[in-house]
Amino acid sequence: MAEQIITGIDIGTSKIVSIIASVAGEDRTPRIMGFATVDSKGVRKGQIVDIAHVSSALEDCIEKAERMAGIKVNSAYVTVGGPHISSINSHGVVAVSQPDADINASDIERAIEAAKAISLSSTREVIEVIPREYIVDGQSGIKNPIGMSGVRLEVNTHIITASVTNLKNIERCLTDLGIAVDGFVFSGLSSSLAVVSETEKELGVVLIDIGGGKTDICIFVDGALSYSSSIPIGARHITNDIAVGLRISLESSEKIKLFLMDKKNLKKKLDKDNLSKKDDIDVSDLNLLEGLSTVSYKTVIDGIMKPRLEEIYEKVFSEIEKSELSNQVPSGLVIVGGGASTVSSVEVAKHIIGMSARVGTPQHVTGLIDEIMYPQYSAVVGLLLYAKDYVEEKAKLNIKDFNSILRSFSVKGSVKKVIGIFKSYIP
Ligand SMILES: Nc1ncnc2c1ncn2[C@@H]1O[C@H](COP(=O)(O)OP(=O)(O)OP(=O)(O)O)[C@@H](O)[C@H]1O
Ligand SMILES: [Mg+2]
Repeated sequence: MAEQIITGIDIGTSKIVSIIASVAGEDRTPRIMGFATVDSKGVRKGQIVDIAHVSSALEDCIEKAERMAGIKVNSAYVTVGGPHISSINSHGVVAVSQPDADINASDIERAIEAAKAISLSSTREVIEVIPREYIVDGQSGIKNPIGMSGVRLEVNTHIITASVTNLKNIERCLTDLGIAVDGFVFSGLSSSLAVVSETEKELGVVLIDIGGGKTDICIFVDGALSYSSSIPIGARHITNDIAVGLRISLESSEKIKLFLMDKKNLKKKLDKDNLSKKDDIDVSDLNLLEGLSTVSYKTVIDGIMKPRLEEIYEKVFSEIEKSELSNQVPSGLVIVGGGASTVSSVEVAKHIIGMSARVGTPQHVTGLIDEIMYPQYSAVVGLLLYAKDYVEEKAKLNIKDFNSILRSFSVKGSVKKVIGIFKSYIP
């Protein structure tokens, strides 16, 4: 297959990231050629609230990545998240077109179309349709019904929808810069592609992406995405709490938070200060504007940060309960996003949710990866993997009018992708 250039853009509440990668050769592992991250402006809770601010930050970000890669970006996959995301599991049933012959691709397409027939308000759009399992003549749990014989084909799908206004705002920011949207991908789903293993998905796992202003949740059961949501709380709330609690600016508060997140830093300071005798941590190296030189461990970590972290995980726990899948996820929690690096994040997650937990870092890419091997880049790396799958499936299927099939699942106008729908066609 020829070399493919893929661009992924993650417009987050705290940062905007763009990555340009090439996919080529036998191996087809995305090779990162350009990467840039800039502070985000004009985004709240994962949603664009100021197009002009986002456009200028985006322009800066994309230019930096283009310069690094030596490539001009014309189109990109982009993340979408925030509380406007919702998901539903839907069921479709059709009669197999030729009961004497095998089930074919068009039967699957019709079954998925039937499942897609959900009542949706005009303010919402479907951004993802993922088949979870097929049922042939009552036999469930089938991943690939192609070539089977039967008269009745059913499909259980997972459908993710988003607010049209948000999608339009993102598209507008990109088209202003001359960049077409290849596809919108829910940021939680995108993160999961970069960090969650196939075994974890088969066993059942919860992906949690704690960003600056929102937390995405994706639950996989029997290898398939079964629940998606995004709640309006994130690691920036911890920064705000420190600022209020210590009566300092947000900038100083963020510095203290990041300082404490560095475990080596914290350990060194604790050893030096001999915490058993003294509660204060020396932060004089941070040169805070307020002139603060020490902070109390008990006040900041136990009194301010942990309670907020607990609140975040309590809300995540409510979502897991809401999904009614809590007893089907033995692989536990995989935590990503900048918030995953918060002091005691894994311990608090285990305690509040009562499941095993680990922090995830992006995998399955090569090239200039030193800067991106952190939990907060999972979503943007996941976009490359998502796009790679799409390109490969398209080539393998060799369906003449593939784009028109895709467009039937599309967000108006932009050629959309339906990864997974056609997975079952591939041997
Ligand atoms: N090592 C770190 N580097 C940067 N930010 C970090 C780090 N550790 C924790 N954070 C915190 O994580 C938050 C940002 O996380 P992230 O970069 O995942 O957010 P985002 O993707 O921009 O936002 P969102 O997904 O909510 O729209 C900030 O509150 C920041 O303080
Ligand atoms: Mg994010």
